[in-house]
Amino acid sequence: IKSKAPTFKSIAKGIRNGSYRKIIIMAGAGISVASGIPDFRSPKTGLYNNLKKYNLPYPEAIFDIQYFVEKPQPFFTLAKELYPGNFEPTPVHHFFRLLQDNNVLKRVYTQNIDTLERRAGVLPHKLVESHGSFANATCVNCSEEYDCEDIKKDVMKSKIPRCKYCKEGIIKPNITFFGEGLPEKFWWYESDFPKADLLIVLGTSLSVLPFGSLIEKVPKTCHRLLINNVEVAVNNSLGYKDPKLQGFKFNEKNNTRDAKKIGDCQKSILEFIQMCGWEKQYKKLLKK
Ligand code: OAD
Repeated sequence: IKSKAPTFKSIAKGIRNGSYRKIIIMAGAGISVASGIPDFRSPKTGLYNNLKKYNLPYPEAIFDIQYFVEKPQPFFTLAKELYPGNFEPTPVHHFFRLLQDNNVLKRVYTQNIDTLERRAGVLPHKLVESHGSFANATCVNCSEEYDCEDIKKDVMKSKIPRCKYCKEGIIKPNITFFGEGLPEKFWWYESDFPKADLLIVLGTSLSVLPFGSLIEKVPKTCHRLLINNVEVAVNNSLGYKDPKLQGFKFNEKNNTRDAKKIGDCQKSILEFIQMCGWEKQYKKLLKK
């Protein structure tokens, strides 16, 4: 029998009847746009197109560790705008929580630093903040550790937070900058991904590696669902496509694993939640 490619609908049906029990999420900035946080690469609204006021040599410099140690102000100006506490989780974040509550969530891998997955109640052992987060901070000089709240006052006053102990180091939120290693938890993917039976990719351009390349790490039989407002491929940020990376198989005749839902991810996920039969649970979550 020739197996058919899954669809948005067939996958929701599969969740409903218990066919998927080890679901992995890969998420990016697109899932938090509805809460008021811009993404990075959307043509007009993305952060990287709105950094003129910071006079950066190139947009990604705002998250470049070399640049930061010399000129931390642009990053902290941005941090003030994006600081956790001012934003609420979206339906997509609540959906992650529903997967967890229904015991079918293997793990959420997010690239987001806004801590909205935590706010939605995704438990620490179910969550991999692959590019770190604002939740904690470290002195770049003596490595003393701080909590997000410790430096909030300074950040909100546009003051660069300095270490109380060594008196000179800048306190940097534990966000992974370009030029830094990824958090240890990221490597959980090595044992997680081979076990997945469904991968859902939401709100990411997949243009930052190695994160984007993880879509290749699930078994060949694992269904993959993309929920995004544009089609994406695994490219690096310079647009270079690594020939070793295969990407989604949407347009191929022999596609037996990939499905997509192109459009606003919040709208799509509300439809999906309904098809999963979780509408009541969802409404209950919102009341809490
Ligand atoms: P990008 O800005 O690169 O991609 C966001 C994706 O979400 C794009 O494909 C958008 O079209 C899509 N999108 C935006 N709004 C949407 C909506 N309402 N519904 C559906 N899709 C929507 O963001 P990331 O892929 O997360 O690194 O970027 C990856 C990394 O690049 C980030 O983690 C960040 C950045 O440099 C660090 O912070 C270290």
